Amino acid sequence: MYTKEDLQRLVRYQIGNHRLIIVSNRQPYQHQLVDGQIRMVIPSGGLTAALDPMMQACGGTWIAHGGGTGDRLVVESGNRVMVPPDDPSYALRLLWLTEEEERGYYYGFSNQALWPLCHNAYTEPVFDSGDWETYRAVNQLFAREVLDEIGDEPAVVLTQDYHLALLPRLLREAGADIVSGQFWHIPWPTPEVFRICPWQDEILDGLLGNDLLGFHIDEHTGNFMDTVQAGLDPQINRNFGLINYRGTSTRVRPFPISVDFESICQEAQSQEVEDEMERLAEEMGLDGMLVGMGIDRIDYTKGIPHRIRAIGRFLEEHPEYLGRMVFVQAGVVSRSDIDAYQQLSEQLDETVDEINSRFSQGAWRPIIYLPNDLPSVTLMALRRLSQFCVVSSLHDGMNLVAKEYVASRFDEDGVLILSPFTGAALELTEALIVNPYAVEEFAEAIHDALTMPRHERRARMIHMRAVVRENNLYKWAARLLLELIQGAPRVGAKSERPLLSSGR
Ligand code: F6P
Repeated sequence: MYTKEDLQRLVRYQIGNHRLIIVSNRQPYQHQLVDGQIRMVIPSGGLTAALDPMMQACGGTWIAHGGGTGDRLVVESGNRVMVPPDDPSYALRLLWLTEEEERGYYYGFSNQALWPLCHNAYTEPVFDSGDWETYRAVNQLFAREVLDEIGDEPAVVLTQDYHLALLPRLLREAGADIVSGQFWHIPWPTPEVFRICPWQDEILDGLLGNDLLGFHIDEHTGNFMDTVQAGLDPQINRNFGLINYRGTSTRVRPFPISVDFESICQEAQSQEVEDEMERLAEEMGLDGMLVGMGIDRIDYTKGIPHRIRAIGRFLEEHPEYLGRMVFVQAGVVSRSDIDAYQQLSEQLDETVDEINSRFSQGAWRPIIYLPNDLPSVTLMALRRLSQFCVVSSLHDGMNLVAKEYVASRFDEDGVLILSPFTGAALELTEALIVNPYAVEEFAEAIHDALTMPRHERRARMIHMRAVVRENNLYKWAARLLLELIQGAPRVGAKSERPLLSSGR
């Protein structure tokens, strides 16, 4: 198993005298002002969950948008703050955006154009030229911030996600001594889909400013190559995953992202989680119940109404479970300034109400919906209390909820019901893989999960745990960094200044 220490050694000896910089829209530790007090919030989502442990291991600087109402109060000079607060190991540098910039760049082009464009969830992208102009301007702001951070020093810059597609080209044009890699955390669609974007050439050109571009799986890598082939006039070597364009080359590779298996596994065994399990069982009336659960950002790509409908169908087909099974859906409100997300939230309330009023008996309700950001100890307790976990995304780059569930089940029990339209389905083949659109099959998968014998549950969970333990987050980070370094001979091996130091 690849460890945190292995990753630290790799960074120390291979990155040489280069600074390590991560750039993303979302920051890993946000500060909110609540009743005059500063409260730290850990944002949900795969990006921060995966990259924070990596940065804690490696040190360096993470540049992100300071979107919290209390962020300005915690930064020191240079808009920097050391994180995590209880064990500072790297520097977080925040950049400020006006409301208008955030509206056009984040709520607008990133999440109403690129997000629906890259997910096959049948929400039409909105291509607004004002949003696009703001997206370009904000990418320039991020570029200035990176260049200011590194000054004359050589740096390895790892840009994250679809909010910053133009940044790598801007960095390259600035002529700084930067080795540039980017990880795209969402799917990449086929050329037929992507070509509807009026600014496809600029986006592709921006991404081809990277030395290395990573996606979760082969399919997204292939789709990207096809899109570039159809849109620009590049030279492509598919055997080597290489695109030559405007005189430089970009390597394109799959890196399936993962979780910190060991730390999740340990957290799941803590006394705090045991206590929380008792509290939840009592408060929610779960004692003696069969429990299913889901944890999601409230997003239309996650197939949450589909799973609620499948539970309704399951209860229709198997009324013997009335009064015996509870499905707990935890949710994190997300991007709520966008119409499609508000509509989803209303639709979810209605669907849950409908199923609950159809099937409830006395005080018993089949679905407990908790659309509030729950603390991680509560989520962990839910994972442990459940007989099955549902991940029913209509389309998802990877989906770390599935891997977190597997990592938390140190008791080698629990069944994962997983959509084939997630990257995770390629690795977690011992899950019950079911199409979320096929309501009858979905209902039967729930029945299968509840009736699966212990020895089969155990065999499947052992298999999945071995996969996640082996392909853990540290291995993902090491593969990404190694590939970046190896393809960039100008990064000196073993220097006198190890990059374990935090920030400047
Ligand atoms: O899954 C894509 C993604 O951008 C993740 O990388 C991130 O963790 C998640 O969506 C959350 O999105 P946001 O930053 O908009 O809350």
